[in-house]
Amino acid sequence: MNSDLEAATVQKDWAPARSGQGEKAAKKLHVKSFGCQMNVYDATRMADVLAPEGFSETGAIEDADLVILNTCHIREKASEKVFSELGRLRRLKEERRAEGKDLRIAVAGCVAQAEGGEIFRKQRAVDIVVGPQSYHRLPELVRLAADGPAIDTDFPVDDKFNHLTPPTADKIRTRGLSAFLTVQEGCDKFCSFCVVPYTRGAEASREVQKIVAEAEALTRAGVREITLLGQNVNAFHGKGEDDEIWSLARLVERLSEIAGLARLRYTTSHPNDMADDLIRAHGEAAKLMPFLHLPVQSGSDRILAAMNRKHRAEDFLRLAKKIRAARPDIALSSDFIVGFPGETDEDFEATLALIRAVDFASTFYFKYSPRPGTPGAELADQVEEAVKTERLARLGELVEAQRAAFNRAMVGRTVDVLFEKPGRRPGQIGGKTPYLQAVHADGPDSLIGTVAAVEIVECGSNSLFGRLAKEAR
Ligand code: 5AD
Ligand code: SF4
Repeated sequence: MNSDLEAATVQKDWAPARSGQGEKAAKKLHVKSFGCQMNVYDATRMADVLAPEGFSETGAIEDADLVILNTCHIREKASEKVFSELGRLRRLKEERRAEGKDLRIAVAGCVAQAEGGEIFRKQRAVDIVVGPQSYHRLPELVRLAADGPAIDTDFPVDDKFNHLTPPTADKIRTRGLSAFLTVQEGCDKFCSFCVVPYTRGAEASREVQKIVAEAEALTRAGVREITLLGQNVNAFHGKGEDDEIWSLARLVERLSEIAGLARLRYTTSHPNDMADDLIRAHGEAAKLMPFLHLPVQSGSDRILAAMNRKHRAEDFLRLAKKIRAARPDIALSSDFIVGFPGETDEDFEATLALIRAVDFASTFYFKYSPRPGTPGAELADQVEEAVKTERLARLGELVEAQRAAFNRAMVGRTVDVLFEKPGRRPGQIGGKTPYLQAVHADGPDSLIGTVAAVEIVECGSNSLFGRLAKEAR
């Protein structure tokens, strides 16, 4: 590394600053997140950890003294976005300098972890690089950055959650009625296409007691719905209040006891970790929503094996049946990758056949993107771009038809809606069904924050319209 680019590393014995250490100058922070829901959660925790340092959040990037790009490395396109965004920030920084002011730029998240100090070389305007396991050290990195580039991409032994500042009740309220809560991070599965085990590290679960405390604090501040997050959340195995190792099912049961909390969800899961107690919980835990995201990636056994998914298409079909037997009104969603190395027309047809057989309510689909350092990127038989494009379009047509049919089938049904905000038109309120569909209905603002039965009367292109059916709960 060039000496002028030498980055200061945070000392290992550094302890985070506590709030109430005296007045800090008021500064503005803007966090821009890319990628998954965990990045959205991390962005809130970064803002919380910087609040005692005098940073308040701003939605306007031009007003910020510190901009954090919270990045995603999952596909090439996601990573590329970061560098075009950094180019824009460099120009903003130059404008600031011309006015005698400063702008600090931090790159956080999975690109920071994957590229580390390389980022300073690619874009010299960057001041801070911080990996997903180190963002509790942001206050110190911000201080170090006054003297030159500062970096921390360690996987510290001591878990970052022990050093994060909890959000204030006011902060929680501004973030809405639905909140994310990370319970598990990292992945030991090593699917051959995936960067996550390298960027987020080994699988680790948080302690139940800490999760419960965080969920209670969220609920006390008015949150009604919590989505438990993990890269492999159904592999959760956290230390329980009784010192035993708890499964996700047990955690869900425990969180269901929190009065005031109306809804629980979890994402994202691996089919092989759908344990029997978790399937049972879908039938028994009333607060657990009947909507499950269960990525399968391919319907071809050959490709599933090459992806190191460790199950066959038939296993997934059997699993879907079992889940539906436990909770008949459950809807499934999934992720698919087209054009994984070696994928033939026949393999692709097998994927379409699986999709037809399962009938998903919602599906995410991607062209395979070779990621540096993953085994898939080394495979010889990469699929041509034009073939990927064609397959993506065909798969898209099928799953979008399934999504539309699922949404249309809501018409005439009465479902619980969690009302979250005023609607588009006066006198309207907006909320979500158990299946995360947006719903608008005529109703008073006083229903915001409550769950009410709504009869769905119409299905639009982006949302459903309904009529209030009963008293709010
Ligand atoms: N290329 C394309 N899609 C990918 N995903 C993960 N890695 C890749 C990759 N290299 C998709 C998977 C995963 C979702 C989060 O992103 O479908 O479930
Ligand atoms: Fe992207 Fe995966 Fe990192 Fe989330 S964990 S930001 S999806 S690379």
